Amino acid sequence: MKIVLSRPLPLPQIMINGKNVEIVHYGGDVDVFNNAQVYLTTGVDPVPASLIQALPKSVKLIANIAVGIDNIDIDTAKVKNIAVTNTPVVTEDTADLAFALILSACRQLSVNERFLRNGDWSKSAPMAAAGVGIHDKTLGIIGFGEIGQAVAKRAKGFGMKVVYCGPSRKPEAEALYDASYCEVLEELLKQADIVSLHCPSTPETKYIINRRTITDMKDGAVLINTGRGALVQDDALIDALRSGKLFAAGLDVFEGEPELDKRYLALSNVTLTPHIGSATHECRTNMVMKALENVCALLEGKPLVSAIKM
Ligand code: GLV
Repeated sequence: MKIVLSRPLPLPQIMINGKNVEIVHYGGDVDVFNNAQVYLTTGVDPVPASLIQALPKSVKLIANIAVGIDNIDIDTAKVKNIAVTNTPVVTEDTADLAFALILSACRQLSVNERFLRNGDWSKSAPMAAAGVGIHDKTLGIIGFGEIGQAVAKRAKGFGMKVVYCGPSRKPEAEALYDASYCEVLEELLKQADIVSLHCPSTPETKYIINRRTITDMKDGAVLINTGRGALVQDDALIDALRSGKLFAAGLDVFEGEPELDKRYLALSNVTLTPHIGSATHECRTNMVMKALENVCALLEGKPLVSAIKM
């Protein structure tokens, strides 16, 4: 039995029925997949149609170490009858980071920390940057799945009002988090002081935050993105942050990662982090373990534990 990795990862030796599983790294030569059953990949490694088409028949599973699967061409995997699994164990950590970015963007932590580190505080500069309050404000959550709801849970503790939108209404979650459903995005954007993105990245959600939708946002609103970079049209957001239409942003994800639009670096009202939503020791371990559960299930002929419906 053989597993191919998209990049070298520190994995334990895997034994199935008393036999060691061979673990090799895909360095661009598709021949390494010969006789392999699994491609174990991370969410930042693209698995395009061309690669999936070239995989031998022995490959039955693409196990993604991420909850998002937008790096994988699912349609082609479906045609080739290759299962895809994800690691839906990032909810609480990603929600923690979203809330950290809400706090940082609203209270201007990044620029204030630079102010202090640069020695400006003691140089009798009058005052650092003032932020905007969070408690009692309205948080608009776009995408009310597990992560969106975990953010709502935190918002409740801050005395915030929560509004959400998504493809369907979620009455149970509404009751739990005192959240109100907005049938259309515009309705949410008009009410929210802070907008946080938690929807998957699909052709339908690409650039959901664009020039037109930013116009619908409140003047001085704050945007948080811990979802995917492609949800935001950078030109539109940068202009809105420069003009003051938006007060601030907190961004963990960027289109074209690991590159990002360099203009963000010059904006003092943005907190930037390098896609660290799941980057806690606990969460990263859980993600690898969940992916390996799927790998072992496949190799042992058992049902996959977190298969994507295709
Ligand atoms: C992180 O971005 C993930 O999809 O798990």
